[in-house]
Amino acid sequence: MRTPLVAALSLAMPAVLAAQTIPPPEYAARRDSLAQRMDSGVVVAFGGANPVGSERFAQLPAFRYLTGFLEPDAALVLVIRGEKPTGTLFTQPRDPRRALYDGFPPDSAAVARRTGLRARSFAALTPVLDSLASSGLPFYTIRDFTTADYAAEDSLTRGAGYMRAFAARHGGLELRDAHPVLDSLRSRKSSAELAMLRRAIDLTVAAQREVMRTIRPGMWEYEIEALFQGAFRRGGGDGAAFVSIIGSGPNSTQYHYNANDRRMAAGEVVVMDVGAAFGGYAADVTRTVPVSGRYTPDQRAVYQIVRDAQAAAERVVRPGSSFEAWREAARVVVARGVARLGLTEGVDATFDPPWADQCGKDPLRCNQAFLYMAHGLGHGIGLEVHDRPHPWYGAGTFAEGDVFSIEPGVYVSTRLLEMLPDTPKNRKMIAKVRGAVRRYQNIGVRIEDDYVVTGSGLEWVSRAPREPDEIEAEMARPRPSALLEVPRQSR
Ligand code: GLY
Ligand code: MN
Ligand code: MN
Repeated sequence: MRTPLVAALSLAMPAVLAAQTIPPPEYAARRDSLAQRMDSGVVVAFGGANPVGSERFAQLPAFRYLTGFLEPDAALVLVIRGEKPTGTLFTQPRDPRRALYDGFPPDSAAVARRTGLRARSFAALTPVLDSLASSGLPFYTIRDFTTADYAAEDSLTRGAGYMRAFAARHGGLELRDAHPVLDSLRSRKSSAELAMLRRAIDLTVAAQREVMRTIRPGMWEYEIEALFQGAFRRGGGDGAAFVSIIGSGPNSTQYHYNANDRRMAAGEVVVMDVGAAFGGYAADVTRTVPVSGRYTPDQRAVYQIVRDAQAAAERVVRPGSSFEAWREAARVVVARGVARLGLTEGVDATFDPPWADQCGKDPLRCNQAFLYMAHGLGHGIGLEVHDRPHPWYGAGTFAEGDVFSIEPGVYVSTRLLEMLPDTPKNRKMIAKVRGAVRRYQNIGVRIEDDYVVTGSGLEWVSRAPREPDEIEAEMARPRPSALLEVPRQSR
């Protein structure tokens, strides 16, 4: 019998799909949009360096967004005077013997066809920039970090070092940051981008279903990781968009656990926070399931709080609604839920957290409920798994075309109490909540879904089973055969 996974995908898509990519003119349109918002200037962006280790080369997101160029060690220079920028891609020549290993790079005609950019040798980059330094135009940089999460470490990257030396050579030339403009462009997805994201999300949902049916007590977390990886590649995806988080038992309470080397036992939950990448675009979908196939009443109680928090946040989102109202809707549900279970002294009770210095900026971090969910409620997805917008950063609003995740959680571990500073307030709290923390300990639940803001509200895209009864029903279905047929991408 063919499994519903296959049936669902087969119904939605023909067995071999037409190639799905960003159309080349869209890259030029993105550069034009950047130019329109900048008026005049020179924008310099570095692509990714050829990896020295065993990983496959993956182009940096910002560079990929503006060029679509997927070869390593390149740089882009845009000269903006008026609305139409002049763009040049500086690419590395490859000697013929190296090309026998790494492939022959595209020639300048192929580069122009694919990216709309003129290609020059990388050796010309420095003389070109040196001559532009006296043009009077302001210089903007696009930094060469892999993910904005590590922007602070950017000073060590090749592009940052190059541009620092360049500025020093030209009398301390001021370098401006092009990211605010670029990020605002990237936050609103085009229909081609949305199609790529939908493929990544569909692959992830299919894999979640497949894995739910396969999990059994005694399996290892790495077996689950491998199943996801296999499903992502079989479906024509690039692979995992980030290292899969497969956390069972105590590991379910660590937000970004990813050693994935523990054996799972009956009676535990396992958090599976995973996402396929497709054409560079990342999905991010989490399900927390019972290893034995049935939630215990205590696991269900925690699960329902998280699910209710997610539903409350979903109800707030439409164009124009505020990030703050969205975040508060979920927070209130979590605060009430954990108070009901006896995990806090009350909805508004406060404590002295190890991060007390942050409470001036955000007093809610001193609310006892924060102890059980100390991470953000969600983030944009796109070429980075933590793409813009990062709603918890700002006083902004949702807009049509935002694609983002909502990922509440509740994580219970006695370590939460052990890490607290020894203060009178904390001693009083611990005396009250210790029993409940022991009762629910090692139950970590996160539910994460991906959404698109539409003209009138919100579309839930990652439709993997997520109500407790649906998950149990999926887990009771027959295990899929090892060689599922999934639709492939012709490339
Ligand atoms: N997968 C990491 C996160 O959920 O943000
Ligand atoms: Mn996420
Ligand atoms: Mn995630």
